[in-house]
Amino acid sequence: MKVLIVLGLNHGEINSTASISIDGKIVCGTPEERITRNKKTKLFPQNAVKFCLDFIDKKLEDCDYIAQGWNPGENWQKYNPLFSTYRTKREDYFYTVADNLYNFVDRSPPEWVLMQQSEKNKMPPIYFVRHHLAHAANAFFLSPFKEAAILTCDWRGEFQTTSLGIGKENEIEIFSTKELPHSLGMFYATYTQLLGYRDGYDEWKVMALSAFDVDCTEHLEKIRKTIKLTSDGLFELDQSYYQGVILDKPKLYTDKLVNLLGGREGIKGEEPDEWYFSVAKAMQTVSEEIALHMIETLYKKTNNENLALSGGFFMNSVLNGKILDKTQFKNLYISFDPTDAGNSIGSALYVSHCVHGEKRDYSSTSSYLGKEYTENEITDALDRRKIKSEKLENVSLTTAKLLSEGKIVARFDGRMEFGERALGNRSILADPRIPEMKNKINAIIKYRESYRPFAPSIIEEKASKFFDVPEKFQCKYMEKVVPVKSEFRSKLPSITHVDGSARVHTVNIQDNKNFYNILIEMEKLTGFPIVLNTSFNINGEPIVMSPNDALNTFFNSGLEYLILGNQLVIK
Ligand SMILES: [Fe+2]
Repeated sequence: MKVLIVLGLNHGEINSTASISIDGKIVCGTPEERITRNKKTKLFPQNAVKFCLDFIDKKLEDCDYIAQGWNPGENWQKYNPLFSTYRTKREDYFYTVADNLYNFVDRSPPEWVLMQQSEKNKMPPIYFVRHHLAHAANAFFLSPFKEAAILTCDWRGEFQTTSLGIGKENEIEIFSTKELPHSLGMFYATYTQLLGYRDGYDEWKVMALSAFDVDCTEHLEKIRKTIKLTSDGLFELDQSYYQGVILDKPKLYTDKLVNLLGGREGIKGEEPDEWYFSVAKAMQTVSEEIALHMIETLYKKTNNENLALSGGFFMNSVLNGKILDKTQFKNLYISFDPTDAGNSIGSALYVSHCVHGEKRDYSSTSSYLGKEYTENEITDALDRRKIKSEKLENVSLTTAKLLSEGKIVARFDGRMEFGERALGNRSILADPRIPEMKNKINAIIKYRESYRPFAPSIIEEKASKFFDVPEKFQCKYMEKVVPVKSEFRSKLPSITHVDGSARVHTVNIQDNKNFYNILIEMEKLTGFPIVLNTSFNINGEPIVMSPNDALNTFFNSGLEYLILGNQLVIK
């Protein structure tokens, strides 16, 4: 039977990725950064494409289509000379993708070329999918919903910044959009920059600052005045405060915004004080108000109980955790990668389902889409470096024992996660009951701001015992922040943030049996089926992919325990 193979790409924005869908099901994918070790690289995902093709044991010519989550054709209608120095904004970007992919096909000089097809080789046709459609497809087609309302928000696509629509079976209909200069992602990035952090990178640090208990009423009122919730259910940013859309301006904000907030700008590396906490809290609140306004509109328009969200803005786990409480939606889905990186997945699924009518397969797609290493590959990596290791009989028991004795354990097992959040297979683990774990991990490997919290991983069916969440609560990708039950806050100090919340990761046996078993052993030893879980990387580097990366990170940090598959390495 003929299968439909689509190679999806995210190229042109930060964090290039490649993924492959077969008959509308994503089977593999990886960010390019994990292979080249160049964090959030914008380069063409040459190595990620190779990994994907090797994974399915096919050549590029065997793919039916290529899908890219960016459509330069949008510029045909709205050519803007300001953007013409940006390659993704010009028509010649159409050729960039093909150009890079010629490395994968026969390069003997042909006598003729018909666009992507030559006498000697067959380049699959390439679809350039509108950016927000790729986001929408990432949200809806990875979700378990047959029908759902869809909202996408990011800094910007080609022109769109926001889209509202509905998904039904294998179709997506967008019924309203917002375009630049009105952008929720840019709004958040503006304050990230104003507070002295890197816009487009450090938004989560600002989100962490927003949890501090300060009175932000004055800033809140002021920031509210810079935006307008419009009667069509969308929003506008007052352009006298925000100038991120003007590319030759050095800052995303105007002097007027600085004056509004007390004439002060944050300084990189400065220890945050009350002003930082207040601006961050006020801005987080306003961004939630804008998002909830749009979500309510969407509910009224679709009358559907299911909501699927995508776009980089929905990495905002603080907001995500409040949506079901504050709106009429009953079910919420946000994929393991709603950012642009996830658009290789979104564009591949869009082409499969919406363009080629492929029926949906509702079985869940996990984030474990990356490379897996065999026992031999792991022992080879150890042998090559003459590193002594111990083969473990019971990996989960040993891991839990070490953790409960206060050791920090780096864990490497199974297929690598696609998204930025490590979900147990490339993770650093610790016992969440031990107060000094946060500072210890920061000191030995993360080297990050002391106020940023670490996340807990917990057995899914036990989540409602420790967190204020309904029974059968799922948060498989750390996408929501929820309250820790008050009686457990002091018992779980290293995963409880200053406001008593935690960015929770629920683990079930189907998704990750080995990791689940560690949590079972933790419960037997400590009474808590919970571990502190942070990604296996040094701050600023990509998450480790291979045993070699794991060993490099292990030896370049203060880590003392590493479990690679079933091999324990101790310094
Ligand atoms: Fe985006």
